[in-house]
Amino acid sequence: MLMIPDSIAPHGGQLINRTASSQQRAEFLDKADFLPRVQLEDRAVSDLELIAIGGFSPLTGFMNQADYDRVVNEMHLANGLPWSIPITLPVSEDVAAPLQEGSLIRLDNAYGRFVGVMQLTEKYSYDKRHEALMVYRTNEEKHPGVAVVYRQGSVNLAGPVWLLQRDVHPQFPTYQIDPAESRAMFRDKGWKTIVGFQTRNPIHRAHEYIIKCALETVDGLFLHPLVGATKQDDIPADVRMRCYEIMLEYYFPHERVILAINPAAMRYAGPREAVFHALVRKNYGCTHFIVGRDHAGVGDYYGTYDAQHIFDEFDLDELGIVPMKFEHAFYCLRTQSMATTKTSPSTREERIHLSGTKVREMLRRGELPPPEFSRPQVAAELARAMQIPEYSYEI
Ligand code: ADX
Repeated sequence: MLMIPDSIAPHGGQLINRTASSQQRAEFLDKADFLPRVQLEDRAVSDLELIAIGGFSPLTGFMNQADYDRVVNEMHLANGLPWSIPITLPVSEDVAAPLQEGSLIRLDNAYGRFVGVMQLTEKYSYDKRHEALMVYRTNEEKHPGVAVVYRQGSVNLAGPVWLLQRDVHPQFPTYQIDPAESRAMFRDKGWKTIVGFQTRNPIHRAHEYIIKCALETVDGLFLHPLVGATKQDDIPADVRMRCYEIMLEYYFPHERVILAINPAAMRYAGPREAVFHALVRKNYGCTHFIVGRDHAGVGDYYGTYDAQHIFDEFDLDELGIVPMKFEHAFYCLRTQSMATTKTSPSTREERIHLSGTKVREMLRRGELPPPEFSRPQVAAELARAMQIPEYSYEI
């Protein structure tokens, strides 16, 4: 049984800070025009930011081959710490060829803006098919995470990084809370046990139910929606954020919730991503992490509870954060409340099951989710965002 200390240690013991100091920034800017450039995909920009702010502690940069191989094959870093998703900077052979190991590289975002620097310590090629099968449990290209792996370059660049510019979330300034800040906020509030909640969908009643079940047993909730790159048909982050704001205004006790954005990109790696999501929230200071049905899944690539079972492959002390596992929640017509099969005697016919995917399909058809699925104020916000005119619930 994991003992919860007063303040949970970051993964690896120390919160990493790779944000360039003002002196380093000045030096890097001076050299900017002379450094070889690599342009980052959106996912790598998110990864750079998370490394720099300590969300990916103990990582200080993009993974070298020793870490990569052990993560892909054994879900641990070379130093033995649990880690389930490779954090890599893949480029094409053409881009990699002229880059000298040991040199500094200028990292630009997709708009050519100078966002960071990497000291190149290693270049290595890797087996995409193997990565797909090990990390995503499939080599089908139609899996959105696998598609990214197949599309990206075949050489990984490794080395420590420094973050220079951070302008990626101007739309959510009040919710940009870094791990050092969330830790301080938890301390100030006197919270000893904090449950983290990952989400990439507009908040629905099953989310609300499992969050509130968790909140019954811990001091506070860290509501941490992911706002980095998602697949095309997911609901945009700004719409989702408005839905969370609405929920906080009407349905949650303010003083027990902190809403913050997680700048990460979605990988859709199901079980492996659930472990990764938990470790990142540990770095933000959470002691517990919610894992519900098909966490971080897509299509039917993963079993409903695979993302819970994977935690059994780790020593909980080694992980250092407690997964809180929840069954598939539904609206129960018999008890007229949210429930799971653990708490409701209902027959199948008495259960209203909806998922983020079904709701997205409904919205695309111009239909709104029913009250058993979405709170009316949230449905109204979705209607506005999806320009469904006939829905007139006034907030
Ligand atoms: S995810 O990709 O971030 O996992 P989503 O935002 O839908 O997608 O889910 C957030 C969390 O809520 C995950 O832990 C997921 O397992 C859980 N969850 C979503 N829907 C349900 C449901 N009906 N019952 C139980 N857990 C759920």
